[in-house]
Amino acid sequence: MSKRASGQVVRKAVVPAAGFGTRFLPATKAMPKEMLPVVDKPAIQYVVEEAVAAGLDDVLFITGRSKRALEDHFDRNLELEDVLRIKGDDERLTMVTESTDLARIHYVRQGEPLGLGHAVLMAENHIGDEPFVVLLGDDLIDPRDPILPRMMQVRAEFGGSVICLMQVPRESISLYGCPAVAETSSGDVVIVTDLIEKPDTAEAPSEFAVIGRYLLDPAVFEVLRATKPGRGGEIQLTDALRVLAQMPADEGGGVRGVVFSGRRYDTGDRVSYLQSVIQLACERPDIGPELRTWLKEFAAELP
Ligand code: G1P
Repeated sequence: MSKRASGQVVRKAVVPAAGFGTRFLPATKAMPKEMLPVVDKPAIQYVVEEAVAAGLDDVLFITGRSKRALEDHFDRNLELEDVLRIKGDDERLTMVTESTDLARIHYVRQGEPLGLGHAVLMAENHIGDEPFVVLLGDDLIDPRDPILPRMMQVRAEFGGSVICLMQVPRESISLYGCPAVAETSSGDVVIVTDLIEKPDTAEAPSEFAVIGRYLLDPAVFEVLRATKPGRGGEIQLTDALRVLAQMPADEGGGVRGVVFSGRRYDTGDRVSYLQSVIQLACERPDIGPELRTWLKEFAAELP
């Protein structure tokens, strides 16, 4: 195993948040889509909480224009804190200070939105020569089914990069990156031999979709710098991973996939976003019972 791969601790998380959020316009005209509430918390806060729970205490947001709401959310709001303190509303006071104290948060601007690969390349200076995790805000992983610790174990064992895969119906594979894989002796780990970004159903090399959690070797930066625009004219992270999958281990190459079978909520388009909000709200002890009762009555009357 390469020196670089030998069990370096993973401390840093990168969260791209520079997209236009076009599927949610006009809500996202002046606000990043990552700030859309999932029940009563912005989607992005779930993602940061997941990173922190996995021991990542340094979070870098890759932002675009409208980063203001993000920065404000993870900063103190002293006026609001004072109002809640005077009212004696400790519960809400804890809620508003929670996001501030979660992690050390940093920001870098992407400039031009040239694709996910380009967004990750913006993190190079901050990350340096360490392995790091990329978390995409569209995928929420249930905190009861954490996947990052397993991905870290796989990296510690084999080095290289580790991606998160999920079995999806063949007809929806064209929404995702899709790997060609070889099985290993551990049931939930596969070797990634090739990758295609959003293939047509007929040319999909497997039924696995790449989910928005990546544990990347820093070798990815050099590869990304040489990656030409791919699908949709964008610099694709999937294309860089494809190169990494074929590179030797002593150069930081090698890609493994961990197959996730836990609960995941997709907030990437309007219908799945609404489904995620309803699912999570139904499980909440404070509002769940009332919502479930209403939902059953409502559903019974649907045409
Ligand atoms: C991105 C990646 C894709 C991956 C997906 C996971 O696509 O390019 O490979 O499967 O995230 O959510 P996006 O959904 O940003 O178009």
